[in-house]
Amino acid sequence: MSSSLGEFAQDVLAGLARSGQRELPSKYLYDDLGSALFEAITRLPEYGLTRADERLLRAHSPGIAAALPPGAVVAELGSGSGKKTVSILESLQARTGHKPRYYPIDLSTSALNTCARELASCAAVTPIEASYLDGIAQASALRTQSQPLLVLFLGSTIGNFDLSCAVEFLAALRSRLSPGDALLLGADLVKPVPQMLLAYDDPTGVTAAFNRNILGRINRELGADFNLTAYEHEARYHEPARRIEMHLRARSRQRVSIPNPGFRITIEPGETIWTESSHKFLLSDLDSLASRSGFRSILRWMDSQWPFAENLWSAVE
Ligand SMILES: C[S@@+](CC[C@H](N)C(=O)[O-])C[C@H]1O[C@@H](n2cnc3c(N)ncnc32)[C@H](O)[C@@H]1O
Repeated sequence: MSSSLGEFAQDVLAGLARSGQRELPSKYLYDDLGSALFEAITRLPEYGLTRADERLLRAHSPGIAAALPPGAVVAELGSGSGKKTVSILESLQARTGHKPRYYPIDLSTSALNTCARELASCAAVTPIEASYLDGIAQASALRTQSQPLLVLFLGSTIGNFDLSCAVEFLAALRSRLSPGDALLLGADLVKPVPQMLLAYDDPTGVTAAFNRNILGRINRELGADFNLTAYEHEARYHEPARRIEMHLRARSRQRVSIPNPGFRITIEPGETIWTESSHKFLLSDLDSLASRSGFRSILRWMDSQWPFAENLWSAVE
């Protein structure tokens, strides 16, 4: 865990003490247990997103590798286990005859450990336990001037940002890159609402467990006394922003104390804690994101089974 306990406690306090909608930052969903639960989500029949991303990467990795200048090194934002990245690394290796350098960047120690272990056969892996932008600055500083960087941001994790924050984030990412560096961005597209909702509210209950685990993590790390069974998992679609929201809804009045940092709240029946947003994109959103954040779209591939777009962008001067 790279976030200090102090930062975690401060963010939890700020999010739960809000006078309006209570919120917890989604990055805290991924402790060891959360990362394992996320891996399970990627295998759910209802969560077609990962398989679409994987199919596109498998089919187009040779083309992606061919579109990059020779000697490219790879950095991945929020790599998780990195399992989808294997095909890109293998294609780069096939092109150059040697293992490419790969910097997976993640806040989750367990995800990075899995990634380093699983991908060691196809890349020279240097894990970076850091937040996205700090991590990319570190990776960028580690490559030599002659090594262009391919940044991967897969799994539609960009959807965790509001559209305006996504522009800000991508522009900040661009400012840490050099002209000619590339970004491969996986983006889940808008699709029928029932299909989107089911992907975040599976009948097996894995996503519900993933969501509730954020309260379990607050109990474990900050000594809080959340009763996890008192909260219902809820996925809803906010049409104007085209986003799925995950909430935890209190079934009855809940009194919660968090001894570290010494804090008490009462959550009223029916009140929710908002834990994650997953924005869904139109192709026009992606074009606008690229041009507003200092990238030029080079290539785009779409999955035929699950509306999802893989986008290869180049950092412009
Ligand atoms: C939705 S998962 C995606 C994992 C993988 N890229 C995929 O496509 O399946 C998001 C990953 O990003 C990591 N993450 C979330 N917020 C982060 C942040 N601010 N900085 C670095 N990693 C973060 C999480 O720990 C998690 O492994």
